[in-house]
Amino acid sequence: MIPATENMHARSMPELLLVASKLSKRFGGLQALSEVSFSICKGDIYGLIGPNGAGKTTLFNVLTSLYVPESGSCNFMGYQLTRLKPHQIAVAGLARTFQNIRLFGNLSAIENVMIGRHIRTRAGVWGAITRNKRTRTEEHAIEQRAHELLDYVGIGHRANDVAQSLPYGDQRRLEIARALATEPALLALDEPAAGMNASETLVLRRLIEKIRDDGVTVLLIEHDMKLVMGLCNRVLVLDYGKVLAEGRPTDVQRNPKVIEAYLGTGAAGHAPASQARHAGTVLNQAGAAVDPGNKDKS
Ligand SMILES: Nc1ncnc2c1ncn2[C@@H]1O[C@H](COP(=O)(O)OP(=O)(O)O)[C@@H](O)[C@H]1O
Ligand SMILES: [Mg+2]
Repeated sequence: MIPATENMHARSMPELLLVASKLSKRFGGLQALSEVSFSICKGDIYGLIGPNGAGKTTLFNVLTSLYVPESGSCNFMGYQLTRLKPHQIAVAGLARTFQNIRLFGNLSAIENVMIGRHIRTRAGVWGAITRNKRTRTEEHAIEQRAHELLDYVGIGHRANDVAQSLPYGDQRRLEIARALATEPALLALDEPAAGMNASETLVLRRLIEKIRDDGVTVLLIEHDMKLVMGLCNRVLVLDYGKVLAEGRPTDVQRNPKVIEAYLGTGAAGHAPASQARHAGTVLNQAGAAVDPGNKDKS
């Protein structure tokens, strides 16, 4: 168990886990990320927000080596993430979920989690072929751990169900279990509450807090602003690939640049929500962005 976030930040020198420096990514003529710099400390639930198309998922894809940035670097516990291959990212201790769920749909829930676990096993290909004693013992341990993780995310009773038959919210939780199976130091979640109703979102919020309390730092892309503001201790706001604001949620949500990005030029809190680039997002009376329900996009 690690101390809760408040305790981490009460310390004068919080421990840096990830330092991204001037990351830039271009798609043809589109500058999707422009010199994005930020730091995540151990124990953070670090929020990443911004209107649709702001570059949030692109940033995840750069951090996890799915995209190679034109410039910039990212130090994660001594690893230079941008120099690693995608399959090395999880070994380094960074696991993620996807905005569009990526499960092995025809495999059971437990098998999906066991696959995540295999990067931490030692038997190797020869062991898998011969199924020697060590391999069998290891397989048993993997299966046991996978059951524990399904229980942990609250879907233990679904272990033998085929992944694609699970309700949407359970599939999102299964993705989290599979990511946790790699034993990450940093868990990156891309819109985990998308498509969830209010009670499912509340359960998810408790799960994310539990994950943080159990020692895993969290990086969270989320459209549900109530969730972000209630859960995160730091927030980074992207807009058109640039850092618009960074700081504590209470400061960020009052930042005029952030309010304008969510409501459009000259809005000053009075534009109709339909004009927002962030479709469906409105600001409440305190100036906090509130999303009544975001639909998933690629
Ligand atoms: N593989 C790609 N090829 C071309 N353009 C892309 C690609 N991925 C993302 N983009 C563009 O980059 C911008 C940022 O996209 P994205 O990171 O998905 O935004 P967000 O996750 O903040 O909604 C968008 O304009 C999007 O269309
Ligand atoms: Mg996205």
